Amino acid sequence: MAAVDNRRPVASSEPTTSASELAGRHIVLGLSGGIACYKAAELVRELVKAGATVQVVMTEAAEHFITAVTLQALSNRPVFTSQWDARDHNNMAHINLTREADAILIAPASADFIAKLIHGRADELLSLACLARPIERCPLLVAPAMNREMWAHPATQRNFAQLAADGATVLGPGSGDQACGEIGDGRMLEAAELRDALVAFFQPKLLAGKRVLVTAGPTFEPIDPVRGLTNRSSGKMGFAIARAAADAGADVTLIAGPVHLPTPRGVKRVDVTTAVEMHDATLAAAPASDVFVATAAVADWRVASVAEAKIKKAAGRAVPAFELVENPDILAAVARLAKPPFCVGFAAESNDLIVHAREKLVRKNVPLIVANLGPQTFGRDDNALTLVDASGERELPRADKLTLARQLVAEIAARLPRHG
Ligand code: C5P
Repeated sequence: MAAVDNRRPVASSEPTTSASELAGRHIVLGLSGGIACYKAAELVRELVKAGATVQVVMTEAAEHFITAVTLQALSNRPVFTSQWDARDHNNMAHINLTREADAILIAPASADFIAKLIHGRADELLSLACLARPIERCPLLVAPAMNREMWAHPATQRNFAQLAADGATVLGPGSGDQACGEIGDGRMLEAAELRDALVAFFQPKLLAGKRVLVTAGPTFEPIDPVRGLTNRSSGKMGFAIARAAADAGADVTLIAGPVHLPTPRGVKRVDVTTAVEMHDATLAAAPASDVFVATAAVADWRVASVAEAKIKKAAGRAVPAFELVENPDILAAVARLAKPPFCVGFAAESNDLIVHAREKLVRKNVPLIVANLGPQTFGRDDNALTLVDASGERELPRADKLTLARQLVAEIAARLPRHG
């Protein structure tokens, strides 16, 4: 642990989607008319960067907002805009488009376009392709984008509910400033959010119906109003695990120490500062959880009494001495519950990784410890893990933290008791 003036851990970016997360996926991206078409250009870039091939289809209304030229350049494929497009040899673009597609994503999805879809109308190429898609193999995802009054209208709400009942996945909408100057629900999700939602959609739902609790980041133990004890954990590994668990279908609660990371989509976040706060928040949620993953680097000690005013340095005054008291061991406390969730601990060591991990497995009485080398992971986007349990060790070689988190989620899912 290091004593620092009241700086919080360095801000850092979200665990990024790794370059290959959509590799091999072919996405039909449909644009209907709306000002959010301007975001579609970036969305194509994000999907292509994540490894997907993207075939853009535009309605006539969409062409008023963005040109096919832009989207062709970004997707590296000619754009389809008309059901009468004769480029396909059999002249059946509306059929051919979806036969190799892994999904159709409509972004933006206008109120009018969705009203058409729910009635099975097919008077132009995009709605025709949606109707003609093999419904079992080619899922439909829609990202609504419209003025807040249009979104709130009972007709729109009814139409989106019907679309969901017909099997489509509705992504968003977001809330906030709208192009019309009003503020409210109806904004299309940002390109990166839609990319992440699509990546999540394709993840196997290994933790469907499970409640997962994760602690992440450091804790900060105040010494006085401006100083404290903390450590160099960035929270990235824990946030990646929360995201991977949510993507795998779990209901996730993330108890986060002081970090500046965005909350993963669909995750319930509880912010705490000190180890005692983290302990209390965790123990409140643990009895209702199926899995607990303790990634937080909890400060081992706190000062016995926190000074009410800043401790001043002055000539001739003695250097202050602090009495420390031990913080509660959160993981051990959860493992001691009468019916504990499946508990996973982390061991960040600088040496003798496996020896220390085994010692923690026994001391904390948990079924799985994930060992990593502290100095080689703090603040970084990649890591290497060793899983240590009663039956042996398993290496997860160096990779970005999200990739490792997905592998760890699969390992945890495989160890959970099966029901039914
Ligand atoms: O040996 P150590 O206590 O550092 O073990 C680390 C593991 O225990 C991590 O999973 C960490 O999140 C958890 N831990 C905890 N509460 C503490 C200290 C560590 O939950 N006070």
